[in-house]
Amino acid sequence: MTHAPLFDDATLTALAERFGTPLWVYDLTEIDAAVGTLRRAFPEAHLAYAVKANANRAILRRLHAHGVGAEVITVGELARTLRAGLDPAEIVIGGPAQDRALRDLARRSGVGRVSIDSASQWRDWCADPGGWPVGTRAFVRVNPGLDPATHEHMATGQATSKFGLAPWEALELARQVADAGSLAGLHVHAGSQIDDPSVHDGVLEVLAPLYAALPEADELDLGGGFAVPGFPYDVLAERVGAFTQERGLRLWLEPGRALVATAGLLLARVLHVKEGVRRHVIADAGMADLLRPALYGAHHPIRAVGAVAARPAHAGPTDVDGPLCENADRLGRDVVLPEVSAGDLLAVEQAGAYGLAMGSHYASHTRAAEVVVDHGGEARLVRRREALEALWADEVDEVDATVSA
Ligand code: LLP
Repeated sequence: MTHAPLFDDATLTALAERFGTPLWVYDLTEIDAAVGTLRRAFPEAHLAYAVKANANRAILRRLHAHGVGAEVITVGELARTLRAGLDPAEIVIGGPAQDRALRDLARRSGVGRVSIDSASQWRDWCADPGGWPVGTRAFVRVNPGLDPATHEHMATGQATSKFGLAPWEALELARQVADAGSLAGLHVHAGSQIDDPSVHDGVLEVLAPLYAALPEADELDLGGGFAVPGFPYDVLAERVGAFTQERGLRLWLEPGRALVATAGLLLARVLHVKEGVRRHVIADAGMADLLRPALYGAHHPIRAVGAVAARPAHAGPTDVDGPLCENADRLGRDVVLPEVSAGDLLAVEQAGAYGLAMGSHYASHTRAAEVVVDHGGEARLVRRREALEALWADEVDEVDATVSA
């Protein structure tokens, strides 16, 4: 994966002129490179892309072209994934809910795997009129109860999180699933944006005695969570490889961020610059487009685009803020930027994962457009800018208030 700027300034300037801002720009070639990195490290693994990172159809199709499957947690994600043509056999259903609508579509489409998060979830699947889907195999999700050394919101593998079952409970459920003839193996997603593979050592330590008690299990789903940038895949591959080979397990991985984060940027335009105790650069994109800085204090590199980039850096601290009315509405704090002024363009990088996917209509902000570029070719619009009408399209007039959802 490259960490050089994704696109040159002339390209970005032209894209902003042509499609307007804010604008999501994705480089499909960067996704090819990311798949290559994972495949080189884990040549035998099933890769199930965590669709929550970015559900754009062009991206799903590109991943499908590489034989990548999907990890989905809602009926919406499953529907979009099937619509993009992904192979149901390579789809893993996960998540703590798995409601009736998701179960029904999963059963109709014949998904390959379901990761069971609780005993009651297993009962729900079995109690449906269709029963457990024929041909689908189950993982049982284990909560390894360790510190995944990441932001609290993403620390799914700590004992207090809602995900998975404590090891001894997971074993009990896995025995039941095995007795029903449906067990593939165990699943752990210890957290996201993990940069230290020793977290996975802890996970494997928890899993070892469980696999010893589950001779039927022949697969392991280690989830995703690989930090961008810079996860040491070679280290993880060696340790996981030893574990799976010793036990004859087929490996599944569910990378989200690692496949798409570096492939996308958010292009925004400066609306105002306010000097003061702190310089505030007010951009036309903010937390309703890219929530990560507000929600996790996440850092995304921000650079000025075009001739302005050559100017010297502004001396004092600069915040790049969004257009909405709350302090958290910002794209970056203490950003090093040149003297910019209204009309200048900013590129917010490493934003291909959990960007538009977590966007909202807060303050009646409409969703930005998305374009993809493939091998440096002509940009293609893959989602048009949301029209104002989308804000009220689903509202029901008071006279029609009896109409049900
Ligand atoms: N598998 C499971 C079961 C997951 O819950 C997730 C992410 C993934 C795979 C993919 O994780 P990744 O490889 O993308 O780290 N909104 C946050 C990330 C939350 C991830 C939730 N689960 C963010 O913007 O950083």
